[in-house]
Amino acid sequence: MSIIKVVYFSGSGNTKALAEAVNAGASRSAESELMEITGEMIIEGRFKNEEFLAKLDQADAIIFGSPTYMGMVSGQMKCFFDGTSQRWFQGTWNSKLAAGFTTSLGLSGDKQSTLSYMATFAFQHGMIWIGCDAPNELFQGKSMEEATNRLNSNTGVMSQVNFGDEFMPTPGDLKTGELLGERVAKFANKK
Ligand SMILES: Cc1cc2nc3c(=O)[nH]c(=O)nc-3n(C[C@H](O)[C@H](O)[C@H](O)COP(=O)(O)O)c2cc1C
Repeated sequence: MSIIKVVYFSGSGNTKALAEAVNAGASRSAESELMEITGEMIIEGRFKNEEFLAKLDQADAIIFGSPTYMGMVSGQMKCFFDGTSQRWFQGTWNSKLAAGFTTSLGLSGDKQSTLSYMATFAFQHGMIWIGCDAPNELFQGKSMEEATNRLNSNTGVMSQVNFGDEFMPTPGDLKTGELLGERVAKFANKK
């Protein structure tokens, strides 16, 4: 069984909910684990948690999740990415599979920039990027709440969440996350 890690940062819970959905999808056919990046892992502006990174060395696939902050991954996620530079030098993550997901407030919110950056990061490591192939079910007449991939993203999973504690990713966005997890697991199991 392949090993998948779902690495995410979440400030107010939206990305966490999507991470749980991705992990649920991946867990159907792989050994998948959620790994949360927290502020305490960043000391004097640097990501410092070797144990966290060492666990990722064992993975066949890593799926990255971050809210979109100012049109990019969150600062915490960027610190984590920067903290992998030693792996880049050594090619440790070369040929692992990678994928990504993000949440934001705006319908666009510049989420594409976040996912494109995650893919660039993965390409730098020599990882193999898996996109999102979930159908946009708006075309099949489903509602904005229920439709998978309603934002029509193929680079990775996008979820838009309104402002306020009462809101979270729609059932359709969560289902899209599950489908991404399933897809990554399918390819990881073929490796
Ligand atoms: C510092 C900051 C910057 C943000 N920048 C954007 C942005 O560029 N585009 C957008 O649509 N939403 C932006 N948002 C809203 C978040 O992306 C959105 O609320 C997201 O779902 C939060 O995810 P979380 O609950 O996992 O923290 C920003 C929020 C914060 C706190």
